[in-house]
Amino acid sequence: MAAYELIDHDYDVVVVGAGGAGLRATLGMAEQGLRTACVTKVFPTRSHTVAAQGGIAASLGNMGPDNWKWHMYDTIKGSDWLGDNDTIEYVTREAPRAVYELEHYGVPFSRTEEGKIYQRPFGGHTSEFGEGPATSRACAAADRTGHAMLHTLYGQSLKHNAEFYIEYFALDLIMSDSGACEGIIAWKLDDGTMHRFNAKMVVLATGGAGRTYFSATSAHTCTGDGGGMVIRAGLPLQDMEFVQFHPTGIYGAGMLITEGVRGEGGYLTNSEGERFMERYAPTYKDLASRDVVSRCMTLEIREGRGVGPKKDHIYLNLSHLPPEVIHERLPGIAESARIFAGVDVTREPIPVLPTCHYNMGGIPTNYWGEVLNPTKDDPDAVVPGLMAAGESASASLHGANRLGTNSLLDLVVMGRATSIRAGEVIDRKAPCPEPDQAKSDAILERFDRIRNASGSYATADLRLEMQHTMQNDAAVFRTQQSLADGCTAIKAVWDKLSDVKVTDRSLIWNSDLMETLELENLMANAMTIMYGAEARKESRGAQAREDFPDRDDKNWRKHTLATVDPSGAVSLTYRPVHVDPLTTFKEGGIDVKKIAPKVRVY
Ligand code: FUM
Repeated sequence: MAAYELIDHDYDVVVVGAGGAGLRATLGMAEQGLRTACVTKVFPTRSHTVAAQGGIAASLGNMGPDNWKWHMYDTIKGSDWLGDNDTIEYVTREAPRAVYELEHYGVPFSRTEEGKIYQRPFGGHTSEFGEGPATSRACAAADRTGHAMLHTLYGQSLKHNAEFYIEYFALDLIMSDSGACEGIIAWKLDDGTMHRFNAKMVVLATGGAGRTYFSATSAHTCTGDGGGMVIRAGLPLQDMEFVQFHPTGIYGAGMLITEGVRGEGGYLTNSEGERFMERYAPTYKDLASRDVVSRCMTLEIREGRGVGPKKDHIYLNLSHLPPEVIHERLPGIAESARIFAGVDVTREPIPVLPTCHYNMGGIPTNYWGEVLNPTKDDPDAVVPGLMAAGESASASLHGANRLGTNSLLDLVVMGRATSIRAGEVIDRKAPCPEPDQAKSDAILERFDRIRNASGSYATADLRLEMQHTMQNDAAVFRTQQSLADGCTAIKAVWDKLSDVKVTDRSLIWNSDLMETLELENLMANAMTIMYGAEARKESRGAQAREDFPDRDDKNWRKHTLATVDPSGAVSLTYRPVHVDPLTTFKEGGIDVKKIAPKVRVY
């Protein structure tokens, strides 16, 4: 192995990732005076949260009646009863406080006539425990809510003296023999130096793995890096089979068109000009939850009612909306539709198609963001020194299907939760863990092996093979045949990874090497998605199995845990769903009868 000099850094906390969750965690840690570093492969305000459009859910009740218990119920129902109810209560209860906090930090929310935070309806957000009309719960900054949040959180983190290591690529976790996390090693992309961050707490906030699929709303940077690191550390990923398809990605380009369009009155039509959602979801129509709308669109296309020359997509109509509504509340999507679909939304519909959007699964955590490594005796056993938040984590707020705008909420409430918990468990006076040279060498050896890989397969070809496999075999509808074929095909890609070819051997701005490291991370995610989906013999949320069309609570109301060993063998175990809320009706909390599983109709 080439000699790599390690530059050491000691911190109380190292946060990996600078999207919404990473920045909210960083800010919370720094506000308490914890010595905090945020290590990120892209400039913070270019993290994928910047692309979040429609809003952040909170029961502020600015546009009509609302309360956190309705939000909790909607989230449980949206999760198809796979979410952990303690997490769901924690997050929905904390939502108004977290949003007001953002307002005070300076997020420029859109306003009502009275000057309150503007809120719009979104799919699956209702009132009266699903019995009342759709409620306006999404707090929005026009259709650029994530952009506004990222800029504010980055500014606030700098104000509190958090230290940023920008364009550093995290290679792996340093794990002690006793199973505690003691830091990370990262490669500095612009000068090729290697950095060891010794930390009392590492927080993974590395985002989703949308780029496992061919067509995704996610940025090219969404490569599931945290999941890859966790799998290499021998820890499990949870519920990875649940992958959300957003109903309205631009046909062909994949760019997100916010559900906020339908929240503002837009609607979907088929080749007959029919508003088909009225047939499938008579009450909430185009505002049914995402998994439902995506399936209905796919069915319309399959039954020959798709639009366009190939009848392979659907129209999203908003030209009936007053131009001032489009101008004020949806300026970003009007621009995206013009650039990526050549459409003037004031005159023509946008061609759309369900597109991979979000990973409900991820690194298992409790509702404080502490990473879990479940054992037979303790399904909630915590990994010391390691936390996770945001899309890379599975807390599990979203269970089998996420409601729109609950993602930005997840980022801020769970990012903040990690900082609250870290403030309690970190001993500020204790020294940082001593660097473990043998463990560090093993991480560098892997890096060096990939840097010098001289096999037969180009990274881009393997990535494409992975993406096509995922798109063909683990998309909106799944069958035993598609998933069994998918397992074989994705394992074949895994095997080819050991025969990959990296052509650039340099250490400075080596995108060939970085993309290969990212591909290894993507593959850890892809394997756990495919094998988890094959094993789960039911339909629930985003997992729609044509051969098992019903939800099976008796056998499958449980979380999947998947590990992958270096040979590519996937092992699956399961852990129970937390069905108990934090507080019950008697304590001013939720009536458990209201949240018991039932048939999910919209
Ligand atoms: O449709 C959207 O604006 C996306 C929101 C979300 O995924 O939460």
